[in-house]
Amino acid sequence: MGSRPSPSRGPRDPALVGQTLVVIGGSAGIGLATARLARAEGASVVLTGRDPERLRTAATEVEAISASAFDAGDPARLRRFFEELPVPVDHVLVTAGRPSYGRLLDMDAEQAREAMSGHVTLALEVARHVAGRVRPGGTLLLLGGTGARRVRAGLGTAPAVTAGLALELAPVRVNLIAAGFVDTPLSARLLGDGLDARREELRATLPIGRVVVADDVAALAVHLMTNTALTGATYDIDGGQQFVG
Ligand SMILES: NC(=O)c1ccc[n+]([C@@H]2O[C@H](COP(=O)([O-])OP(=O)(O)OC[C@H]3O[C@@H](n4cnc5c(N)ncnc54)[C@H](OP(=O)(O)O)[C@@H]3O)[C@@H](O)[C@H]2O)c1
Repeated sequence: MGSRPSPSRGPRDPALVGQTLVVIGGSAGIGLATARLARAEGASVVLTGRDPERLRTAATEVEAISASAFDAGDPARLRRFFEELPVPVDHVLVTAGRPSYGRLLDMDAEQAREAMSGHVTLALEVARHVAGRVRPGGTLLLLGGTGARRVRAGLGTAPAVTAGLALELAPVRVNLIAAGFVDTPLSARLLGDGLDARREELRATLPIGRVVVADDVAALAVHLMTNTALTGATYDIDGGQQFVG
């Protein structure tokens, strides 16, 4: 029996037409890359960030329908931002905040508080505003590091928090992206003069033979927005770093 040629697939429709993405921390790095990709998939985007000039430049690039400069760590300002949103929301991505490295016992009280609760506190504050504001089936997307996966020096409870929020916010979906090294302005700031050496080391040691970039994370984020089977889960994106590092 001869096999029939399979019908060729035409270009697919953009995945996020008619949907709105809010990026808390969208003027650089992973947030901006995700805003770009979501825009290319037909979404409207709303951006926030602290630095007004950087935010303006990013908002112009992705034709954001609105942009607000404020510190997402300020709960009152965050509440006002959500209350004043001009449109219904389908997806919220939280990239604001930065990772904490090092041993908890080497930190002073304030550093330890930030290391243990910084990301989680912000995620919970945003989650409060997502409830009732994001449409059913939409997503809250959080960002953390692969370090939260294992018990070691330092702490990470984000996967459990993500799963708990997915139950509390249903039918809104909640997922966590756990990244290894991603080549972004944050990594450049943290590594300073050591950035090129770190890139080289990762190219030489990672199973994927290259460094992970913000566009890689953006592709995962858009998949998590569109695949309505996914909630309560943590998705590693590190090029295999956790198995060789
Ligand atoms: N890059 C990595 O290797 C890596 C690895 C694991 C996890 N992560 C996590 O992924 C997230 C994004 O990282 P990234 O590398 O894309 O960082 P990035 O390049 O520094 O970009 C962060 C974005 O968020 C904004 N932002 C930061 N803090 C904010 C705040 N308090 N309020 C409002 N906006 C804020 C920044 O703008 P302003 O500075 O102007 O506010 C910028 O637009 C972070 O949570 C980070 O911990 C990153």
